[in-house]
Amino acid sequence: MKKILITGGAGYIGSHTAVALVDAGFEPVIIDNFSNSDKSVLSGLKHILGKDLSYYEGDCNDSTLLNKVFSENDFQGVIHFAAFKAVGESTQLPLKYYSNNIDSLLILLETMAAHGVKDLVFSSSCTVYGQPDVLPVSEDTPRQEAESPYGNTKKICEDILRDYIKSGVNSRIISLRYFNPVGAHPSGEIGELPLGVPNNLVPFITQTAMGIREKLTVFGNDYNTADGSCVRDYIHVMDLADAHVKALAYLSQQKDNFYDLFNVGTGNGNTVLEVIQTFEKISQLALNYHIGPRRPGDIEKVWASTEKIQKVLGWKPKYSLEDSIRDSWNWQQKLGEKV
Ligand code: NAD
Ligand code: UD1
Repeated sequence: MKKILITGGAGYIGSHTAVALVDAGFEPVIIDNFSNSDKSVLSGLKHILGKDLSYYEGDCNDSTLLNKVFSENDFQGVIHFAAFKAVGESTQLPLKYYSNNIDSLLILLETMAAHGVKDLVFSSSCTVYGQPDVLPVSEDTPRQEAESPYGNTKKICEDILRDYIKSGVNSRIISLRYFNPVGAHPSGEIGELPLGVPNNLVPFITQTAMGIREKLTVFGNDYNTADGSCVRDYIHVMDLADAHVKALAYLSQQKDNFYDLFNVGTGNGNTVLEVIQTFEKISQLALNYHIGPRRPGDIEKVWASTEKIQKVLGWKPKYSLEDSIRDSWNWQQKLGEKV
């Protein structure tokens, strides 16, 4: 069995990727300190997979632990999800973000090199593009100054990976720039578990419909878009998970000393109001929402060009926005009023 280490594998995207890896014949091994996830994810995974996954509880900034994990397993590759991701918090506690997100990558690269593990897939974000002038945004669009320390950690990590490969090491690395991950595993056994009040649109919608939040505020309807609300590219988390499997397969065919990056989105943009209408159609509920002021720092519109990932990795999304919303709602209903 080809073992893959997934750092942050108990998190939202990591847990769905664990399922996709098993489906593709890999054996994922998780390391997570549960700083932003719950151990119940492991039982959700067991329900889906019919078996326990091996996992280590601990911090991937702990190089002693990481060395132990690498000594005990023969990894074909690593997917590095572990990071803090709350944009607002990163503006208040920038050092927490720089330290966790950057140190963990450096320690991981050193440990991989020490153990002769070459292949790495790194979680980056479309946040590196800011508001692009031309849409859909392609990978060669220049990145803009980051809006937040969180966004800056993604830019810095991409730069570290590029420079590391430039130095001539034998590693093979792909950065995936995720657009807006939504949805849940169709079984409803795993999904997104936002801690506290969600910042992201879809969990806020499903929690409002569940009665956990009183009402959703649409952040502005005076943008230059079809209905005035912002446009994003919402990608089903299982499609995103599959992109990691394709990236690993592609890396294994490359010569040493390889780096590339890919957008992972659907190629379609939807407005906030379209997402709400889709939710209302699927759930048959009227959502309590109102139009509020713009959220500072919001981008007006962004969606991905998926040409490169389709052509090079042979990946394309299978799920629609309706599927994503249905699966998010199914997951929320299983969670009930738990937050
Ligand atoms: P998440 O918070 O659900 O998952 C991250 C996991 O990493 C959590 O389980 C957390 O406990 C763990 N973790 C954090 N720091 C750790 C450390 N030092 N050691 C061990 N475990 C640690 O987040 P997610 O949505 O699954 O995101 C995964 C990755 O994708 C992150 O790097 C994130 O920045 C990136 N990303 C996410 C989005 C998004 O909207 N969800 C968009 C773009 C990029
Ligand atoms: C957020 C992150 C970004 C990350 C991206 C992908 C911020 C500022 N940015 O961006 O770094 O890469 O997720 O996960 O958090 N909306 C509402 N009402 C709400 C919540 C959201 O109208 O209560 C709107 C927003 O204005 C936006 C859209 O819904 O237009 C999506 O918002 P969100 O889910 O927070 O994602 P992004 O803003 O794209």
